[in-house]
Amino acid sequence: MKMTLTVPLISVPLLDVIATWTLSLAMYRWGLAEPVLALWLLSLLRVGLLAASLQACSLSRSELPAWLQPTDLSWMLVMSGLLTPAYVSLAMATGLPSTEMLYGLHNWSALALNYASTGLVFLLRWHFFPPGSKGQSTGEAGTKATVSRLLACMRPDIGRFLLVALFLVLSSLGEMAIPYYTGRMTDWVMNEDDPSAFTNSIIAMSLITSASALTEFFCDCVYNVTMTGIHTRIQSSVFRSVVRHEIAFFDTVHTGDITSRITTDTNTMSESLTEKLSLLMWYLMRAVFLLVFMVKLSFKVTLFSIIGMFIISIIPKYTGRYYQKLAVEVQESLAKANDVAMETFTSMKTVRSFANEDGQSRRYSDRLEDTYRLNKKEAAAYAGFMWTNSLSDLVLKVSLLYIGGCLVSGGSVSSGNLVSLIFYQLQFTTAIEVLISVYPNVKKAVGASEKVFEYMDRPPALATLGTLAPPCLRAHVEFRNVTFSYPKRPDTPVLKNVSFELKCGKVTALVGPCGGGKTTCVNLLERFYQPQSGEILLDGRPIEQYEHKYYHNKVALVSQEPMLFARSVERNIAYGLDREPQQTVLEEAATCADAHCFITALQEQYKTDAGEKGKQLSGGQKQRVAIARALIRQPLVVILDDATSCLDGVTENTVLQSVYNGNRERAVLVIAHRLSTIERADHIVVLEAGTVVEEGTHQDLQNKGGCYQRLLQKHFQGFGKRTTEEQAEPVRSQALRSQYRQANGDRDRDRETDGLSVHIQTDKDLGRETDRQTMTPH
Ligand SMILES: Nc1ncnc2c1ncn2[C@@H]1O[C@H](COP(=O)(O)OP(=O)(O)OP(=O)(O)O)[C@@H](O)[C@H]1O
Ligand SMILES: [Mg+2]
Repeated sequence: MKMTLTVPLISVPLLDVIATWTLSLAMYRWGLAEPVLALWLLSLLRVGLLAASLQACSLSRSELPAWLQPTDLSWMLVMSGLLTPAYVSLAMATGLPSTEMLYGLHNWSALALNYASTGLVFLLRWHFFPPGSKGQSTGEAGTKATVSRLLACMRPDIGRFLLVALFLVLSSLGEMAIPYYTGRMTDWVMNEDDPSAFTNSIIAMSLITSASALTEFFCDCVYNVTMTGIHTRIQSSVFRSVVRHEIAFFDTVHTGDITSRITTDTNTMSESLTEKLSLLMWYLMRAVFLLVFMVKLSFKVTLFSIIGMFIISIIPKYTGRYYQKLAVEVQESLAKANDVAMETFTSMKTVRSFANEDGQSRRYSDRLEDTYRLNKKEAAAYAGFMWTNSLSDLVLKVSLLYIGGCLVSGGSVSSGNLVSLIFYQLQFTTAIEVLISVYPNVKKAVGASEKVFEYMDRPPALATLGTLAPPCLRAHVEFRNVTFSYPKRPDTPVLKNVSFELKCGKVTALVGPCGGGKTTCVNLLERFYQPQSGEILLDGRPIEQYEHKYYHNKVALVSQEPMLFARSVERNIAYGLDREPQQTVLEEAATCADAHCFITALQEQYKTDAGEKGKQLSGGQKQRVAIARALIRQPLVVILDDATSCLDGVTENTVLQSVYNGNRERAVLVIAHRLSTIERADHIVVLEAGTVVEEGTHQDLQNKGGCYQRLLQKHFQGFGKRTTEEQAEPVRSQALRSQYRQANGDRDRDRETDGLSVHIQTDKDLGRETDRQTMTPH
């Protein structure tokens, strides 16, 4: 039967009091031979009894308040039960009086102390790790996993870490010399009995402190060098993992997030681990030694100072709440000001073209004004916060001096030991303060590394595990019933059952209205995505079976928006090649792309910097460099996705001629909106709304009068401002268009339609009869 919370809350402590009384009685009777052992055994019995009574209450998690978890209850129980035997054992080991506690644990004062200590520990635990906090529940497992991953990264440097640990222990121990010998000198000043004590203390103090500083120096050197090595290793392996992710990953995750993981997160991690973890180690080791030395000198003073310190460590949390809230507001306000700066500088051309420099400056000043207002409040709050901190610190020091003074006058501590104790306590306080302030940073490092490892451990959804690399390839590509939708829009099929072929030595044009799915076909051919059904074959084998580098050397893409890198033109052309190409090979590729002339006209010719994303080149120049970059690897399948859209007619002809005729074994897939580019293809595939609606030669499709014909009509129709008369007479406009349609097959003469004159001329440059149009405003 389930009980309410009140019953166990009353009955369990009552039971505990009875158990403690029985325990004390048992100690008197049977524990006289081995009192400490008896105390431990009986205390364990007490814990067992209490655990059983709690179990009997069968408290479920839902019956407990949110701040009290079943595990907390169990820990409280264990702690309360074992606190007394632990204290007695420690007191006996350090020579402190323990008889009173050993036999008098049933006294009300001892019981109260026991409960108060347990309560204090759990108060601190709830304070630092509130129930349901991230670090406690779900995050805990992740944090543990991350820490073990971090340790795994450090494993290769285990030897160095052992050396660091050795230096750390030595130098921390050396740090104890100054307080210790200051105490000895104080005793000498007070007693002046041994004249050599002063000199000996000075010499020992100087030697030990110098040795400690030296070991600290070596420790720092070894530690920092090791951590920098680990940072470099992690950063490069994150980068290596991220570039292997599938393109869909880059579609969904913001570039800023990725770069922030590789740079900011790894830097945060490395900085925190290098600087903060080293501080944590130093001060932790120092605190341990200080505690040992303090306990040796006076257990009471040590206990008092520890309890006092924990209390004053809680005070800033409450006094600093307002200051922290303001600090967050200041950060947010600064971020808003930064947004304005970012917006302005990234859109400088737009700002200039709308002459809104003053407007943007005003917006920036307004935001800064907000920040300034908050800064003033924050400064006042900070002063208040610091004042409470200093005051509580002062109270602790004065109380400590008072207690120390009482002990000295009572004769239980010497003056020298009190001086040493005060020094130790001061250093201990600093150590604890540093540990408390540094710990969140180390947690932050673990958090940052969690994100970094998340990227490192993520397996690419589209693995490049193919191994095929045949020496001969026939360049025959086949799309077979391919259906595909982008991962971001899984419910919108972009390609529906698409089938077509690219044949060796032939030029295939993929045409269709915007958004029809042409570039998507290219994306699939480039293996950026995996189709949901159907397959893409190269020489009868699925493309994923080919070795990654081999495949992309054989199938070269010049994309719709070619991306150049911030490096020289020649390094852009040779991008991705295993070996530096010879100058002649480089120039040959550039000549095929009709880029050689413009490159040699540049100031530094092939060494000219293309600028960030190729910004220092014109659109047409960029396209030609991109075509050269594709051609230099002598591909068997060339994909030109609107790759000549920025070229003038003559340049486009030259480029296409070399692409089409450069290699008779080559299959070319050309995507274009210009008729001049399309109609010279051997085969045309019309893609509309993700479906192949027509296929054939230019002539066949024109005669068919289907989608392709409609596209051509729209193409020739052009645009123009409709006259008032036309607007009033849609029928006449219609007549004009049909008049134009009739004239569509008729070339070699000027036509007039919709306010544009279309001049069509025959061009035999390409070795096949082609037409080139120039549209000039009427
Ligand atoms: N990365 C993407 N994620 C989601 N949808 C996309 C993505 N890329 C393209 N699309 C959508 O897929 C459809 C086909 O786009 P695609 O780029 O293949 O068209 P296109 O035929 O090349 O057009 P255009 O002639 O304008 O270049 C469009 O509706 C587009 O919005
Ligand atoms: Mg496209």
